[in-house]
Amino acid sequence: MAMREFLVSLHMNKILVTGGCGYIGAHTIADLIENGFEVISADNNSRSNENILEAVEKITGKSVKNYKVDLCIYDDTVAIFQENPDITGIIHFAAYKSVGESVKNPLLYFENNLNSLINILKCADEFGIPNFVFSSSCTVYGNPDIIPVTEESPMKAAESAYGATKQMGEQIVRETVNSSQNPAHKAPAVVKNIQAILLRYFNPVGAHPSALMGELPLGKPENLVPAITQTAIGKIPMMHVWGTDYDTRDGSCLRDYIHVCDIAHAHTLALNYLLQHKNESNCEIFNLGTGNGYTVLEIIKEFENASGVKLNYQLGPRRSGDVIAIYANNDKAKKLLGWQPKYSLQQMMATAWKWELKLKEDEKIF
Ligand code: WQD
Repeated sequence: MAMREFLVSLHMNKILVTGGCGYIGAHTIADLIENGFEVISADNNSRSNENILEAVEKITGKSVKNYKVDLCIYDDTVAIFQENPDITGIIHFAAYKSVGESVKNPLLYFENNLNSLINILKCADEFGIPNFVFSSSCTVYGNPDIIPVTEESPMKAAESAYGATKQMGEQIVRETVNSSQNPAHKAPAVVKNIQAILLRYFNPVGAHPSALMGELPLGKPENLVPAITQTAIGKIPMMHVWGTDYDTRDGSCLRDYIHVCDIAHAHTLALNYLLQHKNESNCEIFNLGTGNGYTVLEIIKEFENASGVKLNYQLGPRRSGDVIAIYANNDKAKKLLGWQPKYSLQQMMATAWKWELKLKEDEKIF
């Protein structure tokens, strides 16, 4: 396809981003718009704030419509597609995502994360939406025997209900895509094979360099980096390091932290990959990590160096559901998607801190 045609084809593409008011969703919407896509969002704001789309508008100059819909309600979900018959792709982020919370309340996670996915896939199938990107997670690997993990690494038992919903979610997408290749069950009008990509995020951190948007945890932060920045700014008095007796170089858990903007851009590349029919199968998997692993204590040190703030933390007991150590082999995404993470660990910490400082400044204004 000639470049002109390709660019025109992009401009013809309206993408539905579910969970579009979330941390990764909003950063992805900004990247999609900056790369020529038209975007709509579906987010019931049960764990997000629609205001983040105002930040997207400041960054991109484009306003984004959000359908405030509970995707667990089929009739409300299908109405989005009836109103937008020109949707050519879906990026499905909408899900609860706290490992710790999912251990305490597994049924909440199975009900929300699976029902919303099933409804979206029903619509993709019924309306013949050909391109589907699923927000998956490195938690599908469980506690890997060998690291770094590749996309072929075995899925071990999930360590949390959250991880289980991502393992099941991948299977549900795969089965739906395979059945869509068999038109026998569909009315001729919408016989369009669904092509899917499963993106396995490692640990998304940091904030948009403009400091106009970033992570907005509701209540006490579960994730490491917002817990660090909220402790550093005094929003919470102290944080704990959950577990220092693991078999890692300093006893604390090891993860592959990746900037949210690098994760966002991978979604744009994944859609282009499908739109250009470069995919080698109808359901491809990609790891989205930097390929480097850091422990909790190393991240704290890195944050202190980037912010100049000494962190008030205590060594605490292990957190149930935690994977001991994992980081990505990201060769496949680099080779096939042309993806190249560009933010350093220092920039991840610096943008996270800049965002926390901005939030405090805004609190003074409002
Ligand atoms: C990381 C490490 C904690 C808070 C995340 C996302 C999940 C998925 C995978 C995308 C663990 C420790 C944390 C604190 C701590 N991403 N920690 N003190 O559990 O790896 O999961 O990445 O799909 O959605 O939630 O990330 O940041 O919660 O924990 O010591 O106050 O930091 O025990 O070892 P996790 P996390």
